[in-house]
This record gives sequence, C-alpha cells and structure tokens, in this order.
Amino acid sequence: MQGKPFHILNQVLDGAIGAAVQSYATQRALDVQTRREDYLAFVAHDLRTPLSAISLAARVLELSVHDPAKSKQTGQMLKTLHRNVQHLSSLVANILDESINLQTGSGVTLKCRHFDLWPLVEALIIDLNPVAGTGSTRLLNEVPEDQTIYADANLLRRILQNLIANAIHYTPHGDVTISAGPSGDGLGIACTVSDTGSGIAADLLDKVFDKFESDPANGNGMGLGLAIVKTFVEAHGGTVRVDSEPDRGSVFRITLPDR
Ligand SMILES: Nc1ncnc2c1ncn2[C@@H]1O[C@H](COP(=O)(O)OP(=O)(O)OP(=O)(O)O)[C@@H](O)[C@H]1O
Ligand SMILES: [Mg+2]
Repeated sequence: MQGKPFHILNQVLDGAIGAAVQSYATQRALDVQTRREDYLAFVAHDLRTPLSAISLAARVLELSVHDPAKSKQTGQMLKTLHRNVQHLSSLVANILDESINLQTGSGVTLKCRHFDLWPLVEALIIDLNPVAGTGSTRLLNEVPEDQTIYADANLLRRILQNLIANAIHYTPHGDVTISAGPSGDGLGIACTVSDTGSGIAADLLDKVFDKFESDPANGNGMGLGLAIVKTFVEAHGGTVRVDSEPDRGSVFRITLPDR
C-alpha cells in the first residue's frame, strides 16, 4: 500500500495507538491515585481510635492527678498514653514507608514473623479500655498464653483494633472477647473477636466489608474499618468472616495461614 491510502492508514493507526497509550497512562495514573487515596484514608481512619483513647486517658489523668488514692490508676493511664503515642508514631512511619511502596506500585508490604499473640492482645485491651468506659463493656483476653501467630504485627494490631473498636461501639453493656486457636483445617490460626452486643441484621451481613458501608445511626462512622480489616487479612493470604444474630451479638473470625 502506498500514497494517500497508506498515509490515511498510518494516521488512523497513530491515532489509535496514541489513544490507547493515553488511556493506559490515564488508567494507571488513576490506579495509583486511587491506591494513594485509599491508603491515606485508611491511615487517617486508624489514627482516630488511638487519638480518642489518648484524649480520654488525658482527661482521667487530669481529674485524678491530685488524688493519692488514684495513683495506681494514674500510672496505668500514663502507660496507656505512652503506648498509644508510640502506636501513632509507628503509623506515621508507615505513611512514609507505604507512600514509597505506592510509587513503586507494590501496594501493602508485609513484614511477617512468628510472635506471641497474647501480649499483643493484652496491650490492645489496655489501650482501648478508656474507649470501653469504666465497667460497662468488659474486654476479655482469652488467647492462650502460649499461642503464636505468623503475621505482620503492626497490621495485625490494626486489624484487631478495628474489630475491637466496632465490638465496643455496638456493645454498650456486655463482653467483648478475643480468643485464638488452630483453624478447623489445621493450616492456620483463627482469631475471633466476639461481642454480646446489638448484632447485625441479616441483609447487612454481606455488605459490612464493603468500603463506605456504615450504619447511618453511627454518626461518626466512615464505613472503612472492616474494609481495612479485609484488605490487611487478604494481604496475609487469610480470610475474614462474620456470624451475627440481632440482639445476641457478633463473631468476627480471621484466619491467617501458618508458615
Ligand atoms: N461488632 C459489631 N456489631 C454490630 N454491627 C457491627 C459490628 N461491626 C461492624 N458492624 C456494622 O458494620 C458496619 C461497617 O463497619 P465498619 O467498621 O466498616 O464501619 P464503621 O464502624 O461504621 O465506621 P468506621 O470504622 O470507618 O469508623 C457498621 O456501621 C455496623 O453497621
Ligand atoms: Mg468501625
């Protein structure tokens, strides 16, 4: 083919290739942008719970600092403040790490190791106690003391923090219990967060892990907590499921593969 038709074909091909390259570039920019927005939203979301624990603990400290009878509680609150602040610093460090990962396109990166689960759960319970209030919601650590788990400790902490914060929110009076053991198939470790709270209506159960799916009655809710849980659990090659009965409570169960 030569002459005018050749030039026309060339022009058409150039146009088509140009458009494809352009649309690929736009799509890729959008993907990176979406991941960046997701990620920043996830981190901003997870900053809120430790921040409210800090401000509530600070308030208790303020009220008790002149009362010698409360010095034990004061010491405990100071520890809680300290640990929550450490957690915030590590989240900020994560922002830096993960924004570098975003630029290289690798998404969530895991730093997995074997560690004891009981102390992680115990520290979380102490840190979230100010959110649970004094006495109305009990937080119970039923993880066996010799239970180990293979996971990224920072991400597992954020997974459990979201599940426990939800359980506290929907259990104004009652128990929130964290337990763990070998999964039924023997391939991993299952960890459950159970509550005796309001439960979840059957038509909502399938949707709770979707982004921006939040109970309208929960004015502060962004509907991100369980989307974060699912993303982080799946990044470990694990699964998460929920069983719930209205007015009886909910059981969130994550299973992480052992290695
Ligand atoms: N333990 C629970 N008991 C009852 N309902 C729950 C529980 N956990 C989650 N839900 C339901 O699932 C919805 C989604 O939870 P998710 O954590 O994703 O969002 P949220 O708690 O509303 O907001 P966010 O966590 O972003 O602040 C909640 O709005 C609530 O309707
Ligand atoms: Mg939540």
